Amino acid sequence: MRTIRSVAGLRGALAESRKAGKRVGLVPTMGYLHDGHLSLVEASRRQCDVTVVSIFVNPTQFGPNEDLSTYPRNFLRDEELCRNAGVAILFAPEVNEVYPAHFETFVEPGELAKPLCGGFRRGHFRGVATVVCKLFNMVQADAAFFGQKDFQQCAIVRRMVTDLNLPIEIVILPTVREHDGLAMSSRNRYLGEEERRRALAINRALFAAADEFRSGMRDVQKLIAVAKQHLQPIDRLQYLELVDSETLKPAESPLRRSAALCVAGYVGPTRLIDNVIMESP
Ligand code: PAJ
Repeated sequence: MRTIRSVAGLRGALAESRKAGKRVGLVPTMGYLHDGHLSLVEASRRQCDVTVVSIFVNPTQFGPNEDLSTYPRNFLRDEELCRNAGVAILFAPEVNEVYPAHFETFVEPGELAKPLCGGFRRGHFRGVATVVCKLFNMVQADAAFFGQKDFQQCAIVRRMVTDLNLPIEIVILPTVREHDGLAMSSRNRYLGEEERRRALAINRALFAAADEFRSGMRDVQKLIAVAKQHLQPIDRLQYLELVDSETLKPAESPLRRSAALCVAGYVGPTRLIDNVIMESP
């Protein structure tokens, strides 16, 4: 595995693979890797000849009161995990390599960035879309791999690829969970023991609603009410919404199209998100 810090170095390292017609896969991350990230690496390794993982804690997607400066980092551990996972290139640029002086051109997502997290994290998805677009251009991969855990991010990235004619295939993989159901996240490390226990309310709420859905419940308000019952342990619920999987607009009763039940809230100072998809046949 090669660790590369510059775009020029990356282009050089990939030139030969590209000439040889090899399929290049990209897994964009902000590091502090866990099994959720590694499931994306595995998928890329299955589907592509060369896997590039990027690690870049992207400042433009953090709000002024968010956790940019404290975002968990452990580069040596990440490097080891990537090496063991069969990654060919670890691309870990510095901030000024991605955002040189006078940088001023952004990708502005539209309606998809307004609901859910968009309502609470102003400018977040503009930062995500911009850095993801830049990473696509830097790596020029054939496919990029994202996790369903960040459901709105997936919708926005897919929309961007269509709207801007980006020549890349987007592959979405299911959320990887801890043995007790908590969705894996780099931010889980912020949770103390008692908070970690309370955080389980989020996945319990989602699974309870998903069970009712499987048993035939199709009423949006009833499904939300089932989930809501479980959410008392969450300190500050930001949203609990059942949305159309494609438009992210509120789902309509009775559910007939694919919908996602999405939740965000704080446990102590830690913001957690999760979702389940309810697929109507
Ligand atoms: P990060 O939070 O590091 O996540 C990187 C990728 O891993 C994302 O596609 C995310 O959805 C996926 N992921 C995280 N937790 C997961 C889990 N439990 N199961 C499956 N996949 C999971 O998302 C970002 O970074 C950034 O916004 C990024 C896209 C890199 C742009 O800066």
